[in-house]
Amino acid sequence: MDYKNCINLKKAMVTGGAGFIGSHLVHALTDLDCHVVVIDNLSTGHMENLSHIKKNITFIKGNICDKDLILKESKNCDAIFHQAAVVSVPLSVKDPVNSAMVNIMGTLNILDAARQNSIKSVVLASSSAVYGNIKKLPAEESSPISLLSPYAVQKYTGELNAKNFSDLFGINTICLRYFNVYGPRQDPGSPYSGVISLFIKKATEKKQPAIFGDGNQLRDFIFVKDVVKANILAAGSAKSNIFNIGLGNYISINKLWKEISHISKFYADPEYKEERAGDIKKSWSNIKKAGKQINYIPDFSFNEGLKLTYNWYMENKKSAL
Ligand code: UD1
Repeated sequence: MDYKNCINLKKAMVTGGAGFIGSHLVHALTDLDCHVVVIDNLSTGHMENLSHIKKNITFIKGNICDKDLILKESKNCDAIFHQAAVVSVPLSVKDPVNSAMVNIMGTLNILDAARQNSIKSVVLASSSAVYGNIKKLPAEESSPISLLSPYAVQKYTGELNAKNFSDLFGINTICLRYFNVYGPRQDPGSPYSGVISLFIKKATEKKQPAIFGDGNQLRDFIFVKDVVKANILAAGSAKSNIFNIGLGNYISINKLWKEISHISKFYADPEYKEERAGDIKKSWSNIKKAGKQINYIPDFSFNEGLKLTYNWYMENKKSAL
């Protein structure tokens, strides 16, 4: 892939590098001849996600809250890509303390290691969850913040700490507000997994999916390879910033199930369940700022990405589903 505006990365740290987004990023970075230090506690990540690229990576099973470890392992890195997190909104509602430990303190620890090791740029995975149910869509980076879940609070705290570290210590911190990321290797193994992975799993098992609420909630789904591109472009950003990383388009959860039914040729009425606490009604990104400032333009349409994802699950049925 051609990453214009990209800095020359000789060594980088990827936290959560054995996970869904992280492992795609690690692959892309090693393709750019960057040596990658992967930090992952394997709580949700899998070593198989990195099985093809044992060369050019240093894998460390460890916790992002471990101060000494992060400080030691991030030495001489040109950038840190911080992907490790407890990513589920409902899980943050169920256990706000544990998710805060990881999402707030873990992120702070990464920023502090970057400060001590004078690392040029830190790219943080933030979330579109910080917009909550805003009135004016699509969401722009300057749109009002409305924090509906502990997860949203935690991700926003990460952004505030990033800004503070940037102002105080001069590190480049680039926060990427991910919209709903999907693609190969997203693990459907838990009820808190991403909806596309769960729906594909249901379709292959020929089982009814669950839809929380009326299914009219809208999501802006973005293919994982586009998110990887955004991360690498962001590392080359000349100054600290916040960017929306979505497709700039949306689909309802009802329509999503119809699309997956169509691809899988399995048609079933969903089972409608109570709306999830903290769930956002409409999520839709304006991605002009990232387009202008870091040259981020998604390569994959939703249909293309969904087909690639479905095909991947079919080919990797035994291990993935
Ligand atoms: C997702 C991400 C979160 C990210 C945020 C950005 C995951 C697991 N979560 O949260 O990290 O920051 O997007 O906007 O990737 N749903 C169903 N049936 C299901 C599962 C989900 O109807 O079986 C619905 C949910 O109620 C929700 C939508 O589908 O309305 C998306 O849910 P989910 O994939 O869990 O993602 P978000 O909560 O949007």
